Amino acid sequence: MPKLTGTVKDVFTKTAIYPVATASKDGVPNVVPIHFVKIYDEDTILLVDNFMNKSLKNLQENPQIAISVWDMNTNQAYQIKGQATIVTSGKPFDEAIAWVKKGMPDVNPKSAILMQVTHIYNTQPGSDLGKEL
Ligand SMILES: Cc1cc2nc3c(=O)[nH]c(=O)nc-3n(C[C@H](O)[C@H](O)[C@H](O)COP(=O)(O)O)c2cc1C
Repeated sequence: MPKLTGTVKDVFTKTAIYPVATASKDGVPNVVPIHFVKIYDEDTILLVDNFMNKSLKNLQENPQIAISVWDMNTNQAYQIKGQATIVTSGKPFDEAIAWVKKGMPDVNPKSAILMQVTHIYNTQPGSDLGKEL
């Protein structure tokens, strides 16, 4: 499995708002901007569900999820795909709550989404465009 290391990690950690794509079981796509997204470990991304509605419903019936990141200063861009698990207790959920409450005390996270990364593709136009890492 590809790792969230090197230039992927560099671009990812510089990003402030992440386009997060999900799909219904029938394949209807949905994409939303999400701020609370971070690398949890080299294989896993943590997203915090504060306000998700269609996104959460989609993940409940279809765990496939994708995130796009790019850095226009360094001309690096990646498409990250994976499988989501919805978590409402335990360490990742506690960490999600603490993270959100630090900056937004009035917001109450509903769940933590753990995204197990399965594929990473290069989306930067050039000789590596479309290549899988
Ligand atoms: C800049 C920005 C950042 C956002 N960050 C989050 C977030 O971290 N977590 C969250 O659950 N919703 C966040 N939202 C709300 C979602 O984008 C979206 O409105 C919500 O998931 C409901 O849409 P849905 O029904 O398609 O899921 C953010 C919205 C904006 C505009």
